[in-house]
Amino acid sequence: MEKTLVVTGGSRGIGRAIVYRFAREGYNIILTYRSNRETAQQVAEKAQELGARQAIAIQLDVGDPKSVEMFARQVSEHFDYLNVLVNNAGILQTHGIIETSLEEWETTLRVNLTGVFHVTKTLLPLLIRAPWASIVNLASIAGVTGNVVAGIAYSASKAGVVGFTKRLATELAKYGIRVNAVAPSFVETDMVREYLDTPEKREKVKRLHPLGIIISPEDVAEAVYFLADPGLSRAITGHVLHVNAGRYT
Ligand SMILES: NC(=O)c1ccc[n+]([C@@H]2O[C@H](COP(=O)([O-])OP(=O)(O)OC[C@H]3O[C@@H](n4cnc5c(N)ncnc54)[C@H](OP(=O)(O)O)[C@@H]3O)[C@@H](O)[C@H]2O)c1
Repeated sequence: MEKTLVVTGGSRGIGRAIVYRFAREGYNIILTYRSNRETAQQVAEKAQELGARQAIAIQLDVGDPKSVEMFARQVSEHFDYLNVLVNNAGILQTHGIIETSLEEWETTLRVNLTGVFHVTKTLLPLLIRAPWASIVNLASIAGVTGNVVAGIAYSASKAGVVGFTKRLATELAKYGIRVNAVAPSFVETDMVREYLDTPEKREKVKRLHPLGIIISPEDVAEAVYFLADPGLSRAITGHVLHVNAGRYT
């Protein structure tokens, strides 16, 4: 039976590594991009070279309800059912409460939390129809520890993703659908590039992590694959897997 996957924000960073990880397992993949069609197209082509049965790049703004609804229709034109949904798309926000405007707060929550809700809700019929299904959400260390690199809205949005994951896991268990999250610390992507762009800054990030490493997108993709695949984690749901190289503060 063919296996199907949707990854939001699959055009770069962690999302791209997730696309490649599942491609190696022969999935049919839909990856989304917001702005850069050419890059997303290149990722889709490479995913097919790596072993994906098919890989399609579709434009999606998770913060725009109309875009999400149109996307869900496009997914159902390609797939009869959906095995794995990875809610990966997200934006960073770094201000504390004093500098954060209401608009910045609302934009961050709309993309990082409402986007996860809406994409999941619109794709749920396809997940329920699948012989097995699993959802993995990208949370963050910022939603768990309150560290000060991330902003107030970002931390709140990611804590929201944790609550959403746990509540949804309880609700969807009756369909056999598992729902989990990963909560990474700093991962080497565009999102946190400015914290990793000199040898000194890289040393600082390594020192933050008791394991003394910088976490790669592939490290996170492996954790996502573990949580998604019923052969590896069929008894795990409502769980937050910390991909943090030992950093708990
Ligand atoms: N990097 C880290 O240190 C870190 C740590 C913890 C958690 N995370 C979380 O992991 C996830 C991926 O992060 P990343 O580091 O890979 O980020 P990234 O390199 O900045 O990539 C973000 C991805 O999300 C997409 N995206 C952004 N806004 C979107 C929107 N409104 N609608 C649809 N897609 C949108 C981007 O599409 P375009 O390319 O078209 O803009 C891109 O594909 C995020 O949820 C992030 O919060 C990251």
